[in-house]
Amino acid sequence: MTSLNPATTQFLSAQPLKLFVGGKWIEAQSGKTFETLDPGEGRVLAKVSAGDSADVDAAVAAAQEAFRKSGWATMPVNDRAVILHRLADLITKHQEILAQIESLDVGKPRGQAAAFDVPHAAQTLRYYADLAVHTRRREPIAVSGFDVRTLRVPYGVCGFIFPWNFPFLLIGWGVAPALAAGNTVVIKPAEDTPLSTLYFAKLAEEAGVPPGVINVVTGFGETAGAALARHPGLKRMSFTGSPEIGRLIAEACGRNLVPVKLELGGKGAAVVFDDVNVDAVAESLAAAVTLNAGQVCCTATRWLVHEKIRDAFVKKVVATLGAMKIGYGADPETNLGPVVSEKQRTRVLGYLDKGVKGGATLLLEGGRAEVKGHERGYYVKPALLTGDPGNVCAREEIFGPVAFLMPFNDEDKVIELVNSSPYGLANSVWSGNLERANRVAEKLVAGNSWINAHNLFAHGIPYGGCNLSGCGGGVLGPDTLSDYLRNQTVARPLA
Ligand code: NAI
Ligand code: MG
Repeated sequence: MTSLNPATTQFLSAQPLKLFVGGKWIEAQSGKTFETLDPGEGRVLAKVSAGDSADVDAAVAAAQEAFRKSGWATMPVNDRAVILHRLADLITKHQEILAQIESLDVGKPRGQAAAFDVPHAAQTLRYYADLAVHTRRREPIAVSGFDVRTLRVPYGVCGFIFPWNFPFLLIGWGVAPALAAGNTVVIKPAEDTPLSTLYFAKLAEEAGVPPGVINVVTGFGETAGAALARHPGLKRMSFTGSPEIGRLIAEACGRNLVPVKLELGGKGAAVVFDDVNVDAVAESLAAAVTLNAGQVCCTATRWLVHEKIRDAFVKKVVATLGAMKIGYGADPETNLGPVVSEKQRTRVLGYLDKGVKGGATLLLEGGRAEVKGHERGYYVKPALLTGDPGNVCAREEIFGPVAFLMPFNDEDKVIELVNSSPYGLANSVWSGNLERANRVAEKLVAGNSWINAHNLFAHGIPYGGCNLSGCGGGVLGPDTLSDYLRNQTVARPLA
């Protein structure tokens, strides 16, 4: 059940795993290491080099040099696309190994990593490689008396700090457009989940990405992350994680006048009208709130259900959530893996406690789950609360398999309720009446409104947030490539 590909075992055995800087695998200059855990077992999975500001300096210097000298930024765009497609091919070839690594390090079901996280990252890489080939790099502008053209050129070194919920997928979403545009990158993965990023670097090396174009500095947020965010050598910065840290990143970048893209949290709503197939919607929302053990920034955690179908919905959703198979990520039966850490489990359970103390009622109890044979893992049962919109569990991001149900009976009021959240990442509207669904979808203030679905991702569909959920243009859309190209206008007066 838990057997690993020999390549996975070999990758994990070369401890401590090293930083990837300027095309070389090196230990942190301080010699320090840290441990990443397997959250399904609550045990150490691997020792990893703990980079800090000295290593970040070296990585940024390597990326600057590669930008100037490796030819990556200046090669014909088709040649760059060939290399990125080769990298995508390698990701596909190593899909099983990557899914094993991701499942071990994050806790997520191995099957989900293999079916979604890994292939989706490869597809995103292909999408931006192709888009770059078809993007105009030189736009003549008609101005009487002048010869004018605007060039679209890469910026230089782009920094990326990623969270632990979708480490590999987010590399694809974040780094692919930057690379396709001709930039070089320094990546700081989350300390809880550094492994698949290191494997990505290994594949990039094999694909022939020139040394220094992709650099990975593993380490902690306050050391490696902060050093990267404030580095004056960056030309762009991108961060995915909590709003609190997002503010710190934006402050540091502001000081250096480095443009920043922030993808932060969410408190997504699902608005369910009374003309739906209740059982089908209940199943979809049960799946949405338990996806990745609920550690999904855009997932549906506020369920606004029309009062006429409320009881039938609750009956079905409680039965569906209660029947979920909680288990170890490598077990093919598992629907719901552990959360990423003891810290995250404490946070989720703490929210349930605070919610109930604040007057909410539990429709499904939730709490700690014990998985036989994996007693030390960080498992949590799904929970469903109901109560007042002011309850802490209805307002704040919990990041666990917990939903908050509120009945409604008025379209305008439900829109107002959804929009009262300080977040603005993604919501969904469920109705058989498409006119109504479209009307409501357009009035919900967020980066994304989905209709009769939640968690809808495809490269080409822009994804991003507003308000507390982020700023700077989002990811996955065709415009994201332009975010990594700066304009340079060349003009000459005609005699
Ligand atoms: P976090 O925001 O602290 O971590 C995200 C990344 O930022 C990690 O790579 C971390 O090393 C880095 N980081 C931390 N402190 C930093 C600093 N001072 N300077 C630079 N980089 C720094 O998220 P955390 O603590 O792991 O999770 C806390 C909560 O944040 C979660 O419970 C969840 O609600 C939310 N979150 C949201 C995510 C999203 O996708 N929107 C992803 C992860 C967490
Ligand atoms: Mg881990």
